[in-house]
Amino acid sequence: MTTTVQAVTRKQIDAEIRQALAAIYLAAYGDPSLPESQLDADNFVTSTIRRHSRRAGFRLILATTDGEASGYAYGFTGKRGQFWSDWLSGAAPADIVETWVGDHFELVDIVVDPKHRGQGIAGLLHDRLVEGLPQQKALLATTPDGGAAARLYGGRGWQVLVPEIDGAKALYGLDLADRTV
Ligand SMILES: CC(C)(COP(=O)(O)OP(=O)(O)OC[C@H]1O[C@@H](n2cnc3c(N)ncnc32)[C@H](O)[C@@H]1OP(=O)(O)O)[C@@H](O)C(=O)NCCC(=O)NCCS
Repeated sequence: MTTTVQAVTRKQIDAEIRQALAAIYLAAYGDPSLPESQLDADNFVTSTIRRHSRRAGFRLILATTDGEASGYAYGFTGKRGQFWSDWLSGAAPADIVETWVGDHFELVDIVVDPKHRGQGIAGLLHDRLVEGLPQQKALLATTPDGGAAARLYGGRGWQVLVPEIDGAKALYGLDLADRTV
């Protein structure tokens, strides 16, 4: 199997790319037999990605495995005044907020189609997504269990800043200023 990753700009998100993103989202988060899952995936590409792609610092990476879209990763510059930054400012301890929140790179999601998991694709997507980022800090929230997401981020320099920020999710931070690459 051969996987390549490529950056996709906002202007390059055409019908074909929207369809690929929706298919990965549906396979990862939905039940393809349910109409509501299809609607959810459609909403992701027609509303969420459209809105997020207008934000400063938007970066989207698409993985293709043997000619088929297999995963995506994206984020943007998080700023005070946006929903998640403002929510975090109330939910995280003040010292964490002061050091980490605002003008950070907000890693929204890394998603790999279940049929392509366990082949290092998330690692490729992650490394390309954070490569050369101009921000000093990066933030994300995910479940800190022993699963793939915790392994993925834990092995790539991310630290748990707040163990329980949103139900079972932890707030993770990556100090980009500390990078050697
Ligand atoms: C998390 C996710 C992106 C991982 O995708 P993937 O392509 O299978 O991951 P990779 O093969 O690149 O593996 C990443 C790391 O997880 C480990 N891993 C993979 N599958 C695992 C599993 N089932 N259990 C535990 N660890 C696992 C790998 O060994 C690797 O660790 P390493 O970097 O120390 O070698 C994928 O499971 C997914 O799409 N999940 C749903 C969406 C999600 O939760 N995204 C993260 C939230 S931001």
